[in-house]
Amino acid sequence: MLIKLAVLFSGNGSNLENILSKLHQKTFGKNTFEVVLCLCNKKEAYGIKRARKFGLESVIVEHQNYKSREEFDKAVVEKIKESGADLTILAGFMRILSPVFTQNIKAVNLHPSLLPLFKGANAIKQSYESDMKVAGVSVHWVSEELDGGKIIAQKAFEKKNLTYEEFEEKIHALEYELLPQSVIELFCKNL
Ligand code: GRF
Repeated sequence: MLIKLAVLFSGNGSNLENILSKLHQKTFGKNTFEVVLCLCNKKEAYGIKRARKFGLESVIVEHQNYKSREEFDKAVVEKIKESGADLTILAGFMRILSPVFTQNIKAVNLHPSLLPLFKGANAIKQSYESDMKVAGVSVHWVSEELDGGKIIAQKAFEKKNLTYEEFEEKIHALEYELLPQSVIELFCKNL
């Protein structure tokens, strides 16, 4: 079966690139993944260049061109529907989504903490500064609550005496493992 993926991002796009190198046009058992849409809300995002390395031109939908959150979401939903994606992956897509998106699109999100702890945009710093002994990353279904949908998968590690830079690096390394692995498992459970 061909499984079509849409990837939404806002900036650096390292998780987009990781998905492209690990899943795009790759076969797992009976399933082949195809990234049919890379969509970004910022025209200067570095991820746009990363997608080009795979011959993919990102669709840009700039949020500042829309009067409301709902109108922006409607435009994004239209692009996703047009692409025929079976699953949408939010990989560093820094937007709060309205029901216009969440009620129409089946999507997963990557978050750099052990949810439900440290929701929102400062998760890495908050998780580093907390007195928790472990930290980690989560992949979850996208719902109307920010970073609040049902958890699909998590990976954790012991913080020990890591510097902030080492900690951040560890978070990203785990993200690069967890996100593609979760997507594969959603579709190819028997592998
Ligand atoms: C990741 O840490 C992700 O968990 C968070 O935003 C970051 C995106 O990084 N939601 P990149 O753009 O994929 O490099």
